[in-house]
Amino acid sequence: LAGRKVVVSAGGTREPIDPVRFIGNRSTGKQGYALARAARLRGADVTLVSTVSLPPPPGVEIVAVTTAAEMLDAVTSAAADADIVVMAAAVADFRPTEVATGKIKKSGGIPEIGLERTVDILATLGEHKPAGQMLVGFAAETSDVERSARDKLERKNADLIVANDVGSPDAGFALDTNTVTLVTTDGADRLRSMSKLDVGHAVFDAVVSVAG
Ligand code: CTP
Repeated sequence: LAGRKVVVSAGGTREPIDPVRFIGNRSTGKQGYALARAARLRGADVTLVSTVSLPPPPGVEIVAVTTAAEMLDAVTSAAADADIVVMAAAVADFRPTEVATGKIKKSGGIPEIGLERTVDILATLGEHKPAGQMLVGFAAETSDVERSARDKLERKNADLIVANDVGSPDAGFALDTNTVTLVTTDGADRLRSMSKLDVGHAVFDAVVSVAG
């Protein structure tokens, strides 16, 4: 990947409810950081758009964000001249319609929190994908992994979907290993359980082979 620009997103977004509370998810960012490390080891110029503060892989540029809206801005601007974009982040699908300016007090009764959809960053990148850019998405699937992932691949105009088998005991959040299926228009490849760094290398091997 020498001379190539790679953008990776990592971690879970946090959508504020008030100044002290948010809606979040269990993503730790480990798979995204491992992807950024793998791309850098392969010689790429790497930008990592991250919601977490893990030690940055050497030589990788970090852009810190918190919300889905901030991630949309950071990823779309970094992706404009990128060769490969990997959306490994767990982006919130919904956010509170209103953010309270002061901390919500118990004395005010039980609040009702209205939600609205966030922008789908991967689908937006897919809609405006420059010629030759490779777009990689992630999916958390529990059943019919290949079919659901292929549906996502087509709907979001991605070139590769990394499907996390969330039903597997050695896959997913917080662990150092992962079990994934790589889905392209050509087929599906279920990989054995391996380190998240090795998953990163397998993803870039697949991207290079799809790009031809
Ligand atoms: N994604 C995104 N912007 C969002 C939501 C998701 O870019 N607002 C990206 C994620 O980074 C990931 C992929 O889309 O690459 C996940 O797709 P999604 O449709 O959210 O799949 P699941 O999480 O598997 O959930 P579901 O099947 O319920 O849609």
